[in-house]
Amino acid sequence: MRLFLEPAGGPLCGELRPPGDKSISHRAVLFAALAHGTSEIDGFLDAADTRATLAACRALGAGIDETAGRILVRGAGLAAWRSPEAALDLRNSGTGARLLLGALAASPAVATIVGDESLSRRPMDRVIGPLSRMGADCTARDGRFLPVTVRGRPLTGGRHDLPVASAQVKSALLLAGLHAAGRTVIREPGPSRDHSERLLTMFGARLARDGLQVAVEGWQRLRAAQVAVPGDLSSAAFMIVAATLNPGSEIVLKDVGVNPTRTGVIDLLRRMGADITLVSRPGAAEPRADLIVRSAALKGIAIEHDDVVRAIDELPVLMAAAALAEGTTRLRGAAELRVKESDRLAVMCRGLAARGVDLVEYPDGADITGRPGGAGLRGGVVDGAGDHRCAMSFAVFATLLPAPLEVQGAEQIATSYPGFAADFAALGARIESR
Ligand code: S3P
Repeated sequence: MRLFLEPAGGPLCGELRPPGDKSISHRAVLFAALAHGTSEIDGFLDAADTRATLAACRALGAGIDETAGRILVRGAGLAAWRSPEAALDLRNSGTGARLLLGALAASPAVATIVGDESLSRRPMDRVIGPLSRMGADCTARDGRFLPVTVRGRPLTGGRHDLPVASAQVKSALLLAGLHAAGRTVIREPGPSRDHSERLLTMFGARLARDGLQVAVEGWQRLRAAQVAVPGDLSSAAFMIVAATLNPGSEIVLKDVGVNPTRTGVIDLLRRMGADITLVSRPGAAEPRADLIVRSAALKGIAIEHDDVVRAIDELPVLMAAAALAEGTTRLRGAAELRVKESDRLAVMCRGLAARGVDLVEYPDGADITGRPGGAGLRGGVVDGAGDHRCAMSFAVFATLLPAPLEVQGAEQIATSYPGFAADFAALGARIESR
């Protein structure tokens, strides 16, 4: 699939509710499949990644019904999981694959996890290594890539000092630890998103948090819960940046999750000069707000390692914003971007530079000197490289270019935001997908 964009040529205006949060949707269905009883999930993200996790849970024995936008999941605990008949295809989803590895390791099932080309290139050893130290039996291609076959067996807790802040790894170990003997302690070098901790508490788990450390006792029994999934700030981020950049814009994004471990993008954009107002809404496990975004002139900033983990998925669109801001944005400490759905540093730098942006790429970041208003930049063709977030970031960038831009390799937008082109057009962007 390709996106075709004309310069926006005017403000973006209107109101929308972004699709359900991807991270929370994966967790809600998986935790429900681990719990006893019938859970109800409202606002589940209807997209390829989360559908892959749903299908995997069904294949492992959970009863799943969908009625009018609500998902009902009947679980009978991890002990009731059964070996699926075929491999579990997690497609493009790192979250789905890694969280499932943690749960499967302690289950009575034997299962093989496979994924698409992108997921098959991403490191799984960061999960398999610590799980193996708990006693897990995982066989991976070259010891670190999908396909991975897991033969569930009794696990023992332990202490894990993670070298990289990763919510996926932390969550996989929490799921294993909840079903292991003894205590599991996980310490991270930075504050990765805490959706698992919040949601597991709703499902009846007891966790002990102490700064960057979280601990669980084993053999805990999860009970069914009701989950209302907020809108995804990571999807909203494309609209936030586009409205900020296009003069005269004013948009309202309704019911967006604003968990503080995810709001780095708002903080960084505000540091660049953005005008974003949060109006809080009531929420249970997860804080939510309506966001009002008005256009504003942006200036370059330094984005350091400490900023990165709270904005990890929004860095591609922040790089696009930097390419249109006054001055130079210095991004460092972001080497993790190289092991996402694509090497996001390389894909964004290549695409922006080819359209005339002055930048220097570093192993862990880039210096990007912006062209406010897109002056002197070029339209043409850019490659989203089969990465949903890079493709949508280029679409945002295109609204300010002086000439049309075609974004190739945009099909994976379906993994997180199938309605992106329609929503962007509804706000006034001139976009078509074909
Ligand atoms: C996610 C965690 C992050 C993030 C990903 C979703 C999650 O990955 O980039 O898109 O839902 O736990 P890491 O855990 O690899 O940092």
